[in-house]
Amino acid sequence: MQIDGHTKLCGLIGNPVAHTLSPLIHNTLAELTGISLVYGSFLVDQGKLAEAVPGAFALHIHGMNVTVPYKSDVIPLLSEIDELAEKIGAVNTLVRTEDGFKGYNTDMPGLYRAMCSDGMEIANREVLILGAGGAARAVAFLCASKGASHVYFLNRTVSKAQAIVQEIAEKTGYTQMTAMELSGYQTLPGKNYLVIQSTSVGLAPHAHEAVIEDPAFYEKISKGYDLVYRPADTRFMQLVREHGGEAYNGLKMLLYQGIISFELWNQVEITEEQAAIVYEKLKEACYGKE
Ligand code: ATR
Repeated sequence: MQIDGHTKLCGLIGNPVAHTLSPLIHNTLAELTGISLVYGSFLVDQGKLAEAVPGAFALHIHGMNVTVPYKSDVIPLLSEIDELAEKIGAVNTLVRTEDGFKGYNTDMPGLYRAMCSDGMEIANREVLILGAGGAARAVAFLCASKGASHVYFLNRTVSKAQAIVQEIAEKTGYTQMTAMELSGYQTLPGKNYLVIQSTSVGLAPHAHEAVIEDPAFYEKISKGYDLVYRPADTRFMQLVREHGGEAYNGLKMLLYQGIISFELWNQVEITEEQAAIVYEKLKEACYGKE
């Protein structure tokens, strides 16, 4: 690719940013689509976000991703915000407009596209969400908007799950949600649940732990999706498979949130063939050659 005066500059703002896989996603997409675009990472020091965002706009940065810890803090610095991102209260993508950056959340649409590509449906399914932190809350908005028949939250701290249930009902009118303790699965009668593992258990330093270990829980699961992607096979995924279910990690969600950002910046559609090429590169970068 030729880099010249027309090349669009994009990048990630966050802290830390050194281990990000986003440059790999976007620079590969640029290569595959022939769009002259370069993507890098920008470390933004604590307290500097309010300078960084207008500064990036002044420099005609074409588009940005936003990661931890700035996904909510960036909102007051935007000229406009997409409806879904506003409901979730987290922005991970900035799209340049005439007046400033417009904020989007592509994490949840990314999760949805990842699930669709693995043949997982949310509509009319009973879904269990493990956790009630920021990630679980966003997943709950997705389930509400995609018409899950019922959503059960299982969380160590029930009050946090209850707060999300109430917020979703107020903001979306979706009321088919129940908050439970982690042991609440014992009272659930079904055998075919879709489970989205949204706790931080399974991530280092808890890489060999699952938030629920009881085999009786895993016997009720037909599909399990873990938002964690390092390690490739989390303990949760192993337990789902050991009990006959299908299990997937969060790497495809990472892939598709990036793809949707790239599509928003460049008004293109990335094909499944192109997505598969980027996915192979991501797997290699994340887990090494198979
Ligand atoms: P994120 O933004 O990634 O969602 P978070 O908001 O800190 O992170 O949420 C982490 C989630 O993992 C919470 O649901 C937390 O449970 P609590 O709400 O009870 O704190 C859950 N979690 C973390 N460590 C856990 C553990 N050892 N056992 C059970 N749940 C745990």
